[in-house]
Formats: sequence, structure tokens, C-alpha cells
Amino acid sequence: MSPRPTRQSIAELLAEARARTIALIHPVGDELLNRVYSELLSPLAWDLGHIANFEELWLVQTVGGRKPLHGELGQYYDAIENPRRERGELPILHDAELRAYMSEVRERTLAVLDEVDISADAEDPLLREGFVYEMLVAHELQHQETMMQLIQMLDAPYRPAEANPDAFAPAPVERDAGMIRVEAGAYEIGAPDRGFAYDNERPRHTVELPSFEIDRTPVTNGAYLDYMGETGAEPPLYWERDGDAWMRTAMGLRLPVDRARPVVHVSWDEADAFARWAGKRLPTEFEWEAARPRLDGVGGAWEWTSSDFVGYPGFAAFPYKEYSEEFFGDTYKVLRGASWTTHPHVARPSFRNWDLPQRRQIFAGIRLASDLEGNP
Ligand code: AVJ
Ligand code: FE
Repeated sequence: MSPRPTRQSIAELLAEARARTIALIHPVGDELLNRVYSELLSPLAWDLGHIANFEELWLVQTVGGRKPLHGELGQYYDAIENPRRERGELPILHDAELRAYMSEVRERTLAVLDEVDISADAEDPLLREGFVYEMLVAHELQHQETMMQLIQMLDAPYRPAEANPDAFAPAPVERDAGMIRVEAGAYEIGAPDRGFAYDNERPRHTVELPSFEIDRTPVTNGAYLDYMGETGAEPPLYWERDGDAWMRTAMGLRLPVDRARPVVHVSWDEADAFARWAGKRLPTEFEWEAARPRLDGVGGAWEWTSSDFVGYPGFAAFPYKEYSEEFFGDTYKVLRGASWTTHPHVARPSFRNWDLPQRRQIFAGIRLASDLEGNP
């Protein structure tokens, strides 16, 4: 478990997360920050303002009892009230004003941090062991990944990717590395009570699993190309045909698809169809978590599971219903693991990501499982 947070460690985490945000957008430039690329994603300027506004809402207004800097502005940064396809039309902050807001909020956050009790016996559960600060850092790091989804759509080269494309794709894995047998039994699922985790990872509980097998490595581009060749299935997002070859076109680049790397940018529907073609199936999220300590290639692409995003038995929303509970039901599918662009601070074995089954702009790939003989 991570050590107890201190004011010092929290301030460092906040600064580190912000430095990574700035580095991410540095090659992009103000004009492109404001451009709408897709109905499925916000302009980058919205994500930046939303990151700062979420910080102001929780760390300055809620914890510090201060008034917001820009009155009613926060309503435009509410993710539930403002669907992504409408965010390009909102009267949000831009350019110098946006940067000023981000740093003014941060100054206030640090002033409030000096006043509050973040000890293990703090009265407010929001502050206990620095929960709300960990939440803020995780939120900013997760929005970086959302921003990276938009950066895939740039038509001019994203310069750092041009210099080192390998760093902007899942690392190569061995193909057909076999399967791991996981014995039937009772498995502990979810995050322990102590330490930072989202409400949807709790409470920790025991799940009985029949024995199953799960692939040691994720599905590669090579395997996916073979599947496309045999079935005529569509290519993943950002692939373009070039004679006999396939090129990856994300981030304004044009690079040959590398057969040895895990496939990424496929939807749940595509992942499920691939699994059936391969004579296997997607794992449940519990199987994934039970097998997790023995898997290779985790962290290249998120892995679709067959599970719907629902609450664990005894779920309690904390600190707000709109983080997880709004999405519970049979609409969203759970993804596990992490992608090449996920900050390691976000990826823990109990972390649950979720998205719609038709979505391909997220950094999602496939790992396959099978029942073992004798199981229903
Ligand atoms: C966990 C990626 C589904 O982006 O909707 C960001 C994370 N929640 N701000 C999302 C999130 C609030 C969330 N996902
Ligand atoms: Fe958010």
C-alpha cells in the first residue's frame, strides 16, 4: 500500500500531474486546442478548463469554503450537463484566460492545503488520508488520457510521436504465448478499505469462479490482420490501406502497422466478434482480476471484458453519484488494465474503466479466455 500522504507528497503529486498535462498539450498550440475534431470528444480547451474547474469545485470551494473565481462558469464544465458533442459551442475559457484560471485555481488549492487536516483520523471522510487530493490527481491523469484520444485525431504530426513513435503504441508481445490455467475457487475482488480507490472498486468481496484459461498475451495486430483477411472484418480505427500494406495514421503520422504489437482501437463489439472467430471468449472482469498477477503485456491497451458496469454488492456512492453510479446498468462494458498512455498512478488491479460497446477512440484491445473442459 502507498504510504500515508503528507502535505508535501500531495503538493508534489499535484505538480507532477500538472507538468504532464502541460507537456501533453505543449506541441499542440492554442488554435488546435479550441478545435472540435469529433462528436465523441471535447475540444482540448474544454478538458483543460474542466480539470481546473473540478479542482476548484472540490479543493477550493468544497474543502476551502471559498467562492468560485468566475461565478457560474462551472456549469459549462459539468460533464453530465454538457454532452461531448455540444462542448465546442459553450462559452468556456480559452488561451491566456484559460491558463490564468488554471494557475489561479492551483494557487488557491495550495493555500487551502496548508489549512486542512489530512490525517488518518480527520473527521471529514473527504479529507481523511488525503482522499479528495488523490481523487483530484487521478482525475487530471485520467483526463490526460481522454486528451490523448483527441490527439490521435490531429492531422498535423504530433511532434514527440514523430520523433519516437514506439513510445506512442503498446509494446510488442509474443504471439500465441499460450494460456494460463486458473483454478476454481473463491477470489477477493475489489480494493481494500484503506488507501485511495474509486467507490466502484468497493466494497471488496469474494467471488466464486469456476476454473478457466486466459491468454498469456493480448491479441496482436498480426492476429487481427489474419482475422480481417479471413472474414473481411473492418480494420481498427486509424488504420488505412496502402496497396497490400496497412498503415497506422493516428497523430498525423503514417507508419506501417506492426504485427507484433497488441491491437488497439477496437470496439467491444469487434473484440467480442474476434473472440468468437478465435473459438474463445472475452474474460469476465472478475476472471481478469483473479488472473491479473500472472498476466504479461498488461498496460499496452485497455482490455475489454464481457462484464456490464454495475455496482458491487453493498456499493455506496462516494464522494458523488455522478462519478460511477450514473453509469451503472447494462449500457456500459468494463475494461481492465491500462493503456500505453495511462499514468501508472491510475492503473491498479482493482481499477475499472468503462465505455459504450461501440466505442473505438479509446485505447482498447483484446485478451481472450476460455472455459475449461467439464465446466458448463
Ligand atoms: C472512467 C474514463 C469512464 O472519462 O468518463 C473523468 C473518468 N470521470 N471525469 C470518463 C472521468 C469524471 C471516466 N472514465
Ligand atoms: Fe472529469
